[in-house]
Amino acid sequence: MNEPLGKVSRVSFKDEHPDLGDGREEIIKGLSLPQKSADPKWFYDQRGSELFDEITRLPEYYPTRTEVLILEQQREAIAKICGSDCVLIEPGSGSSEKVRILLDALRPSLYVPIDISASFLRDSAELLGEEYPWLDIHAVCADFNGGWAFLETLAPSPRVVFYPGSTIGNLEPDMALRFLKSLRDMAGPDGGVLIGVDTHKSTERLNAAYNDSAAVTAAFNLNILRRMNELLEADFDESRFSHHAFYNESLRRIEMHLVSNCDQQVRYDGGRFDFREGETIHTECSYKYSLEDFTALARSGGFDIAETWQDDAQLFSVHYLRPTV
Ligand code: AVJ
Repeated sequence: MNEPLGKVSRVSFKDEHPDLGDGREEIIKGLSLPQKSADPKWFYDQRGSELFDEITRLPEYYPTRTEVLILEQQREAIAKICGSDCVLIEPGSGSSEKVRILLDALRPSLYVPIDISASFLRDSAELLGEEYPWLDIHAVCADFNGGWAFLETLAPSPRVVFYPGSTIGNLEPDMALRFLKSLRDMAGPDGGVLIGVDTHKSTERLNAAYNDSAAVTAAFNLNILRRMNELLEADFDESRFSHHAFYNESLRRIEMHLVSNCDQQVRYDGGRFDFREGETIHTECSYKYSLEDFTALARSGGFDIAETWQDDAQLFSVHYLRPTV
């Protein structure tokens, strides 16, 4: 690469101090519903993030490695459709790992990672800046609901929002729609969205991906109980719950549950949750989309699918969405 000599990446950091709350009220509310439930965001503490990382390397868990393969195979085509010098925005950027596949081909004028974990975001942005001295980075600590007007003051180029990982699959269809609309605002009328989406496929394959033989997904699911013990000062006992994941074919989603192994009472600071044997906490949905399903969702969200890339076995899809004119 022809770097201008001595160019050093400009890394800036803006903390919008997202209000995360402590989650207590929200979790108690979820566990008080007739179908007890918890938001999947509670999976990702230190231990949960490590377990998820382990999941991405499991033989049965195809999404991560397949998406990486598609991005590697298609980076030139992706760069072409994104145009040169775009402002590349990544909500929920984490360690900015997948974007590295695209950076040399895309050559964005600016990379804007957005994440809610301030210290992790700052470290990741600095590391990325050292690896890519030509790249300017503007890291923003915020939740995704903020205003995006400031982006235009940073650089006037078209904006591309990068949202890999099939993270959109965690959202119920109405929330997925709202989220897509917010991505459209983020991208602006002359921008686009590059999004990774897991596809609808055989039930056997999907069930295997969420019921790995090494039981890492089970540990990941059960870890949420430890998290609740911390947040609610509760006494959930991991050994009294079991991992249960299955593909709900009619709703086209994986459901993960924690099943109570017995009748039991769980105490927390302020009350008690009663479980009957077999009763579950619904901990995650992971929606799967056929091309038709996702096209329809994107349309309702105000997008046309400009291009779709898939692996040969069509296990995963990466789409480039453009706001409908
Ligand atoms: C990170 C939400 C895409 O739904 O496949 C993996 C999370 N849960 N195994 C997914 C997950 C169980 C993952 N997403």
